[in-house]
Amino acid sequence: MSDDHAKMTKTTPQQFFVALWAGMFAPIIAIALILGLIAKIEGSHGEKDSLAYNDKATLARIKPVGDLNIVDASAPRVEKEGKQVFDEVCTACHTPGALGAPKFGNKADWGPRIKQGYDTLIKHAEQGIRQMPPRGGNPDLSDIEIARAVAYMADAAGAKFTPPAAPAAGTAPAAKPAAAAKKAG
Ligand code: HEC
Repeated sequence: MSDDHAKMTKTTPQQFFVALWAGMFAPIIAIALILGLIAKIEGSHGEKDSLAYNDKATLARIKPVGDLNIVDASAPRVEKEGKQVFDEVCTACHTPGALGAPKFGNKADWGPRIKQGYDTLIKHAEQGIRQMPPRGGNPDLSDIEIARAVAYMADAAGAKFTPPAAPAAGTAPAAKPAAAAKKAG
């Protein structure tokens, strides 16, 4: 009786190995299939799906409207020439004659204004007059740059103003003496 029982439950070595192999292969095949699937999914993703690309695209979208331009404050200021200031700022209104601005090169527009004198025109350009915004709307422009731009525009319409040259000694940037002291020390 006990012998019968032992016979019924006994596993042959063959059965044991078949079971062992089957048990091992099933998960291996499953893992292989999963890996294949992952590889396929990865392969279908292009550059546009990469993290780096998305970061860049997001940054481009949430970028502030203005770019911050970091300038070394201790660097000596290079005064722009009248033409450059005009091309960057004044031309916006003074080329088309927007808001009633005297047009560039138009003697009829500029004649009566030139008669006011260079100093008055500079003052009006610095402080603004009626629709003309102070410094053409760009507070970064120095007095010299404004004066040069005024001369550039007025002279193009028949005036004979002499734009200021390099900054006077008294108006030199504060950083200059410091730099000189550094050199000396
Ligand atoms: C937003 C438009 C605008 C910009 C930018 C602008 N101007 Fe003007 N400007 C005007 C207008 C409008 C007038 C006429 C104002 C008036 O007499 O009613 C004027 C007049 C002037 C006059 C004559 C002032 C007078 O007393 O008759 C000067 C000089 C002048 N601008 C210089 C400049 C310079 C230099 C720049 C650049 C740095 C500049 N403007 C940029 C609109 C502009």
